[in-house]
Order: sequence, then C-alpha cells, then structure tokens
Amino acid sequence: MDLFHRKSIEALLKGTERHALRKTLGSLDLVLLGIGCIIGTGIFVLTGVAAARYAGPGVTLSFILSGLACAFAAMAYAELAAMIPAAGSAYTFAYASIGRIGAFAVGWALICEYTVGAAAVAAGWSGYAVGLLKTMGVDLPHAWTAVPADGGLINLPAVLIVVFLTYLLVIGSKESAKFNRILVFIKLGCVGLFLLLAGPHVSPANWQPFLPFGFSGVATGAAIVFFAYIGFDAVSTAAEECKNPNRDIPIGIVGSLVICTLLYIAVAAVLTGVVPYSLLNNSEPVAFALRSIGLNFGSALVAVGAICGITTVLLVMMFGQTRVALAMSRDGMIPKALLKIHPEYGTPDKITILTGIIVSVLSGLLPINVIAELCNMGTLFAFCIVSIGVLVLRKREPHVERPFRCPCVHVVAPLGVFFCGFLILQLPVNTLAFFALWYALGMIVYFTYSRHSIRLAEEADARR
Ligand code: ALA
Repeated sequence: MDLFHRKSIEALLKGTERHALRKTLGSLDLVLLGIGCIIGTGIFVLTGVAAARYAGPGVTLSFILSGLACAFAAMAYAELAAMIPAAGSAYTFAYASIGRIGAFAVGWALICEYTVGAAAVAAGWSGYAVGLLKTMGVDLPHAWTAVPADGGLINLPAVLIVVFLTYLLVIGSKESAKFNRILVFIKLGCVGLFLLLAGPHVSPANWQPFLPFGFSGVATGAAIVFFAYIGFDAVSTAAEECKNPNRDIPIGIVGSLVICTLLYIAVAAVLTGVVPYSLLNNSEPVAFALRSIGLNFGSALVAVGAICGITTVLLVMMFGQTRVALAMSRDGMIPKALLKIHPEYGTPDKITILTGIIVSVLSGLLPINVIAELCNMGTLFAFCIVSIGVLVLRKREPHVERPFRCPCVHVVAPLGVFFCGFLILQLPVNTLAFFALWYALGMIVYFTYSRHSIRLAEEADARR
C-alpha cells in the first residue's frame, strides 16, 4: 500500500463542507485567540529555568532565536491554513502534501505536543497556585506539591486542575469568545503590570556577565523557551471559521506572534535585570522577582493573572488534543472506538478522559522541564514538516488558489526547517531518545492497525 498516497485538497475541503462551521471570526478575534493560546507557562515559568540553568541574562537572545524559528514556520502555516481552511491544521496539510505516512507522523507528533504540553502547562499552573497560597499563609506540604525528582511524592495541585478541566471538557462547557477575551486581557494586564512594577528596579549589574554559558547556553535556552511560543499554530485550526481567511489568518498568526515576541523579550530582560539569574530556577520566577524587591501585593496580583492565563492555555491544549484525535480517527489512523460521543453531553468523553488520565500522571510525576522539552520536540518536528509541505504543494499543486502566499518561499521554508532542526539538536539526548521511543510505538500502531483502516476510511469517503 502506498505510504505516500495523498488526499486531494478537494477531498479535504469536501469533508469540511459536510460539517460546515459558521464563519464568524475576524482578524482581531484571531490575534486574541493566538495570544490566548500562546502566553502561559513558558513565559511565567520556563524563562526562569532557562536563565538560571542555561542562558543567563542572554535568555533574551534565546527568545529572539526561538521567535525567528517560529516566524519562518508561521509563514508556512499561514499559506497552508488560508489555502486549505480545514480544522486539522498541520495534520491536514501533511495529508495533502506528503501523504498518509506524513500525516500519521505529524498527527502522532501533535498528540505528543498537546498531551505532554498540557502536562507541562499544568505543572506551571501548580507552581503559581502553590506560591499564591503560600503568600496567603497556606503552606502546602512539599511532598504533595513536588514531583519525585524534586524530593516530593506527587504534584497534587497539577493533577487536580487537570481532573477539573477534564470534567469541564466532558460536560462540554465551552469557553465563549467573550470569556476568552476577558482572560486574554487579564493575562496581558498581568504581563504589563510586571513590566511596570519591576522595570524601575532593573539594575544593569545583574546583566553582567550577559552570556555566562556562552552561545551554546543561549541556543539550549532557545530550545527550552520555544515552549513559550507554542500555540500560534492553533490560529490555523480556526481557519474554517474565518470571515476572510485570506487577510485574517496571516494577520492572526503573524500578529499574535509579533506581540508575544516583543512582550517576551521585555519580560526576559526585566526579570534578569531585577534579580540575579542564578536565583530564578524556581516554580514562579515572575512573582518571585516582585517579592524579592518587596512588592508582595504586586506579586500576588501577577500570580492571580498568571493562574487565570495559564488555565486557558491548559484548556485549549487538552481540547486541541481531542480535536487532533478526532481528525485522525475519522481518517482511520487511530481506532474509532476512542471517539465515542457522550449521548447526553455530545462530547468525545472517552478520549477526553483518557487524555486527562495521561496528562495528570505526567504532570504529577515528572519535572516540568523534562515534559516541556518533549513537547517542544514534537512541535518542532511538526513545524519542519509544515515548512517542507508548503514547498511540496507549491510544486505539486501550483495552480490551486493561494489566498496568502508565503513571501520568498524558497528561502523562508528552508530557513524554517533549518532553525527548527537546529533547535531540535539543542534538546537533551534523553528527549530525543524518548521521542524515538514514541515514534517506535507509532510505527507499531501504523503497521498493525492504521494502514488497513485508513484504506477502509478512504474507500468510504470515495463512495460518499
Ligand atoms: N505557549 C504555551 C505556554 O507557554 C504553551 O504555556
């Protein structure tokens, strides 16, 4: 059977016509959606880890390097999302450009991105929640708030927030656009408040030495803080619901990315300017920095904002996982049985609960940097495939209408592959080994199950 058999763009779009979604979103909605999915644990937690362990004050450069990799991939995403406005995002693009095996590989990487990423986000949420309780005089025992690698038993707050959100997703409580907007503004307000309060306390002496671990530290730091950018790709999953995908999708993707990059650079510079970078390896560095300059009230406010902001990212990531699984099971890549829809709530309860269990176990037992690195690996891999996919489709389908064309695609797409590949190589060897194991498992699933059931699904599609 042809591993590289592609699904035509018409067939992919026909699938979306059968279940047409209402076109209600404009460019501002998309920018806000992007920011809602982007700003979270990465900036509020991993900036501190990356500065203390790898990059020092040079973490600002890490954000620029990582932002560049995302900018190139974002152009490819924008072209493909405007051209194939179907909800499966990178998975769908790979099916159209590289074929079955490419789509399976990307889908498998996205499952890793969303499931493992959600676990890392939950761990970040827990850091701020525990810190906030502590400022309010409630000191939870270390054993119940830390993973075994950090001398605890289990990170219980992380498990509890995942269980709660799984419940919300099963009963189908949808965050409305308005709710998302409010939380995005709280999140932006919290970042703004930090810059405003901490900015005047920056002492340039803290930026010396700027690169204590040299350029290699900056590069490793970039591979870690890459996590902070994950989420802009989610804008492309809303392509079907856009009033004017031609204009709105590129604005949504590029706009949210630019705003977040500028904010991240500013936060990283201020954070490392306020306290020595070596003190930032803790679970709530932004609130910690404010506390260490005596701004306890500001620190509590920022912590509340961070908790609200991180909650939306977590919700969207867990939701994203079920969406990718749905798209894959419709095409026969993973068993349809997983996608039973709850008769009363109308939600895919089985896959949601399974996701919830895996995310709680990962976030309860593994250190945040390990899970964030694994998530980065999956996402960087998907970004490479999308960058290759845009070139493949330019060659194979030159006449299909492209409402948005990636500028200088023959330079931009290879640069996307190069930068993302470079960041992959900066990740720890253990992460690469875990990812290889994950793929070995994927290949077993593909060759024992998927390849037969994909054919059946394609035949059923053809009969429709
Ligand atoms: N970018 C998201 C975060 O930092 C995943 O939490």
